Amino acid sequence: MKKLLILFFAIIAILPLSAGYNQAEMDRFITDLMSQMTLEEKIGQMNLPSDGDIITGLGDNSNITGKIKQSYVGGMFNIKGVEKIREIQRIAVEESRLGIPLLFGMDVIHGYETVFPIPLGLACTWNMEAIRESAQIAATEASADGICWTFSPMVDICRDPRWGRISEGNGEDPFLGGQIAKAMIRGYQGEDNLFATNKQIMSCAKHFALYGASEAGRDYNTVDMSRLSMYNDYFYPYQAAVEAGVGSMMASFNVVDGIPAHGNKWLLTDVLRDQWNFRGFTVTDYGGIGEMMSHGLGDLQTVSALALNAGLDMDMVSEGYLNTLQKSLEEGKVTEDQIDRACRYILEAKYKLGLFEDPYKYCDPSRAKKEIYTPEHRAIACKTAAESFVLLKNEGNILPLSGNKTIAVVGPLANTRSNMPGTWSVAVDLNAPATVVEGIKAVAGEKSTVLYAKGSNLTSDPVLEENSTVFGRSLHRDNRSEEELRNEALAIAVGADVIVAAIGESSEMSGESSSRTDISIPDVQQRLLKELLKTGKPVVLVLFTGRPLTLVWENENVPAILNVWFGGSEAAHAIGDVLFGKVNPSGKLVTTFPRSVGQIPLYYNHFMTGRPVADNGFEKYRSNYLDEKNAPLYPFGYGLSYTQFSYSDVKLSSTRLSGNGKITVSVTVTNNGKYDGKEVVQLYIRDLVGSITRPLKELKGFEKISLKAGESKVVNFTIQPEMLKFYNYNLEYVWEPGEFEVMIGGNSRDVSSARFILQ
Ligand code: BGC
Repeated sequence: MKKLLILFFAIIAILPLSAGYNQAEMDRFITDLMSQMTLEEKIGQMNLPSDGDIITGLGDNSNITGKIKQSYVGGMFNIKGVEKIREIQRIAVEESRLGIPLLFGMDVIHGYETVFPIPLGLACTWNMEAIRESAQIAATEASADGICWTFSPMVDICRDPRWGRISEGNGEDPFLGGQIAKAMIRGYQGEDNLFATNKQIMSCAKHFALYGASEAGRDYNTVDMSRLSMYNDYFYPYQAAVEAGVGSMMASFNVVDGIPAHGNKWLLTDVLRDQWNFRGFTVTDYGGIGEMMSHGLGDLQTVSALALNAGLDMDMVSEGYLNTLQKSLEEGKVTEDQIDRACRYILEAKYKLGLFEDPYKYCDPSRAKKEIYTPEHRAIACKTAAESFVLLKNEGNILPLSGNKTIAVVGPLANTRSNMPGTWSVAVDLNAPATVVEGIKAVAGEKSTVLYAKGSNLTSDPVLEENSTVFGRSLHRDNRSEEELRNEALAIAVGADVIVAAIGESSEMSGESSSRTDISIPDVQQRLLKELLKTGKPVVLVLFTGRPLTLVWENENVPAILNVWFGGSEAAHAIGDVLFGKVNPSGKLVTTFPRSVGQIPLYYNHFMTGRPVADNGFEKYRSNYLDEKNAPLYPFGYGLSYTQFSYSDVKLSSTRLSGNGKITVSVTVTNNGKYDGKEVVQLYIRDLVGSITRPLKELKGFEKISLKAGESKVVNFTIQPEMLKFYNYNLEYVWEPGEFEVMIGGNSRDVSSARFILQ
């Protein structure tokens, strides 16, 4: 009771009555609170166990309830259900000495129960408002169920599609990745980062840093990178997240400059705090402190001290801080100031969220029914999913389909619910999503006949299939032979007007711990596709994937390919809408699709070599392969529409740009086709001469426009010297005078260009 009174009076005295918080008042409140805390209680705030015995009775973090009562817990994560969370919060508030509320986090990565496309797909919308809104809806639903903190967005740049987690990020481009990071954070945290209502939750950008650059795409692996690449490419989206006011930052599992990120002071303090002025709190990834023992940096006490010295505030599940920091303090390996600083950052997060004012702010049980998985949210998710699909090929305008047809829907991904939402959809009801067959039936019209056959299993290898369908997403392996399954499909295919083949990866073939060395469509499905094509019927490949795949054969032989990624809980209806032309596809790739695995890493913003080569055949002693082109199959920014867009020449308002001036570059885009459509107009710039080698082109702007059939629009971009800055050899952020090429187009390959001089 005494502690509640202390807190109550402190709150009345200090907390503002209006929404939001005031920095000075927050400082006073926390200083006062910390003056009442013991060392153990401060360290307790820095401990983030998983659900332990409270929910599952499993887990290493035993007796969590007891630990909460002893003030040894600062927050918990991945617990679903507001009633459960409310009860745990009650224990913290009423049964611990000072009654400090807990943070409740979750991997709300691309939606809560209403699931949006996987981040890689969402990024392909290039629609920042739709991306922001998806995060806002995720925040509304998660907060209605007790969650106040999400481990999203993942902003790791990735140039290697073997890495399974490429599906969780925004692709290969720093600038686009930075814009998406900002949009997501605004969606989660609100426009002003004040958490004024209980519908805004704290965001956690991850994984700091360079996690997407692990060697050969192997998960949790070594990264070795120059500081120039870090600053000029990979750091940009993390810094954008900091500038957007992200509330927390998660460390990454890899080493950076030879030191694990979790113990890297240069990274977590010099760069993040001192250079970028990050004011939120840092958290480890799952067991990240403990893993430094496997990295060979010492025992739990040593690595925990290393992490604290580096600047890590909260320990997710290792319990290294809880069990060793006091000893390290006694031995002079860490200081009390360091513990105070970490504790303060975590308490500040709770204060900003308003948890001291009302520990149950996010525990209103009346909200869940009204605000989760609502028809409005689902309609928006469906629209966004349709916008994320990328039309890779549409020979002879097979698409869109028209009604009154017999449609054979074939493939192991055609009739599954649990596979639709995609990886990291923790809160979804796996039985809720419609199947592709249902999505097609819903729009095909009564006069159409929709037939279905599975056609094949996911792969010929049952072990691989099982590993690729974990977390309740089983595709129910069929025990019939490959031939029997295929014949059943061919029997319906021969009588159909069109075949829709729903094939590709299962949702758990990408995501965490799902790296692949062979990124083609799994063997048995390829064989099915070949047989379907032999029927002579038009085949539409509805491709499910969480990464770029190698599709050279498919691109040559299948007339229409619609890449649908994993579109979330409403994906099936979105697929129906796009196939039948209710929505004209407008997604554009945010990652290069290589022709073969041997080309990886392959990305559009690479350097020019000393021996560049035009891609029209092998030339001895040039930078090319004997057996493969240099060019990708589909370049960054690529994606077709049911209509056709043409671009005029690029016009510049001036060919000279002064250090404090600006110029306008413009282009006229025309919709020459029969359908209304949307186009992503992309601006690239190349610094032609620099003090260090500069990329061949870099995305510097984009605008998504809508054009009616026959309509034209002028699109203007402003170019200022600030956009032309880069980190030079001394890591100074500067622009250099000289000639620049500006390029505009509908993808990174097909552009028209002009030149200007910066002076
Ligand atoms: C992942 C993180 C995730 C965390 C908590 C880790 O394995 O790398 O991205 O946020 O688990 O679930």
